[in-house]
Amino acid sequence: MKFHTSATILATLAFLPPLTWAQEQVIPRPAEISVDKDGEPIYMDRQPEIRVATGNRSIITGTSSPYVKAATQAARFLAEGMGKPALPLGWRFRDSQPAGTLIDIQPDEELRKQHGDEAYRIAVDTKYAAADLMLRISVASPKAIYPAFQTIAQMLPPAFFDPKADKNATEWKLADAPFTITDYPRFAWRAFMLDEARHFYGADAVKRIIDTMALLKMNILHWHLTDHGGWRIEIKKYPKLTSVGGKRRDTEIGTWRSGKYAGKPHEGHYTQDQIRDIVAYAADRGITIIPEIDVPGHAAAACASYPELKLTLKQPTEVPVTFAQDVALDPTNERVYEFVSDVLDEVITLFPSPIIHIGGDEVRFNTCWKGEPAIEKFMKEKGYTQYAEVQMYFTQRIAELLRQKGRRLMGWNEILGHDNHGDGGGTADTRGKIDTSSVVHYWYGKPSIAIQALKDGYNIVNSVTDYTYLDFDYKRTPLSKAYSFEPAFKGMAPDMPGKLLGIGCQMWTEWVPDRDRLDYQMYPRVIAHAETGWTQKERKNYAGFLKRMENFRAIMDAKGIRYAKDEIK
Ligand code: ACM
Repeated sequence: MKFHTSATILATLAFLPPLTWAQEQVIPRPAEISVDKDGEPIYMDRQPEIRVATGNRSIITGTSSPYVKAATQAARFLAEGMGKPALPLGWRFRDSQPAGTLIDIQPDEELRKQHGDEAYRIAVDTKYAAADLMLRISVASPKAIYPAFQTIAQMLPPAFFDPKADKNATEWKLADAPFTITDYPRFAWRAFMLDEARHFYGADAVKRIIDTMALLKMNILHWHLTDHGGWRIEIKKYPKLTSVGGKRRDTEIGTWRSGKYAGKPHEGHYTQDQIRDIVAYAADRGITIIPEIDVPGHAAAACASYPELKLTLKQPTEVPVTFAQDVALDPTNERVYEFVSDVLDEVITLFPSPIIHIGGDEVRFNTCWKGEPAIEKFMKEKGYTQYAEVQMYFTQRIAELLRQKGRRLMGWNEILGHDNHGDGGGTADTRGKIDTSSVVHYWYGKPSIAIQALKDGYNIVNSVTDYTYLDFDYKRTPLSKAYSFEPAFKGMAPDMPGKLLGIGCQMWTEWVPDRDRLDYQMYPRVIAHAETGWTQKERKNYAGFLKRMENFRAIMDAKGIRYAKDEIK
């Protein structure tokens, strides 16, 4: 990177209309941007070198340093985007004065104290060397390195994201003038959920999503891997979960009870090796994967796979080809707890996340449990009067299993025992029954449920349906509505013992048979949710977002994302 002094380039620039400042195109919108508007454009026309240092001293002691690991990953990302050769150990790290251009990464404790682990500052440092510029990136921790490079990537020409572009012919202009960006997230939890149980897309599709999530500074991939319509994760102790549960004969299409079918089988699952590979791929990009194994409801694929385990009181005879089902695990059967424990044992070896999502949503009490002799007997023995209490018993046991395995439970807000759906669960006061180390995933029901949970000490992720469900059509949830989502609950107070961790947006895929449809449902709404998760509330602005979307649209075109074009005309 250096000032261009070439007469041709200066002449070309003189005839161009004024550009939006590249640094003002970044999504999510950074917290603070300042531009030296009298300065000259900045180009990254040489292969940058990356150094991790404090002052003038390198702090690199070996490739195991988390700073070096993150910097190497970020350097690879930059090299690939700019079509530069990737050196064997990432790019060269150096201590000496730069001969070419230098990106200097420095830990900054002050930044961490002020704005948390993910804070970074990018500044163009013209002092470093007379002829060559340097980007100085201050980071609160290694976690801030990859996000900082995503900001840089969004400032470069969209050819950065186009594998087919002639990268050598691209002029890598970074900005129209020197600048400083100071940036940090509003929320620590910025999640996208992918349902691969209803439709399976495969590792390439997931990695492509991970790349875009990282670009948007989203940091949690919530992976919904099991449901009525399919079981997508290899469990070695129960091979039929995938050999039987990973396949279905046909698929209802269009909408609920449409009576129309695809007329072909659907199948797919991830081997444990593939899962490990995807988890590592995500981790390299700053993303934690939270797996969801949905119990006790949404479990027809498991039950169809193992009828001999009597997982459910109403065994399905096959993996259902329609999505609306009333199948739930049998909470009175000890074999069920053994099964869930075995499955979780394998799940936790694959996912280092401290939190495991166990679903817990939508047990249809009236149809799954009401009138079942085993349930009625169990309730009598326990003195329960409400089916919700039976679910609470189940959830408590699973939370305890996870605690023993060193993990924490996360579940949809039904884990608190409310009868959200009028399914005959009752209104038993089950508060305080589930350990408050559990995370409540609020999606449905009165907001007072969330407020009470915060008062009771639970941390919450807000994924309320109307704003964050990406399966909803654009008439119901247009981009403007998605963007207007405010995750903080009315009546929330800073001294409540529970905390609002952040936001999730959910891609349920009952009616999403392929990757094109997946793109269409996700984008551009996911981009809006990414901004809500990261950008400070007072910095959000829909008109400005649409303006910045002009650049992001070019990025999506370069990446081949088939977004809903009408939303951002
Ligand atoms: C859900 O949409 N059933 C969480």
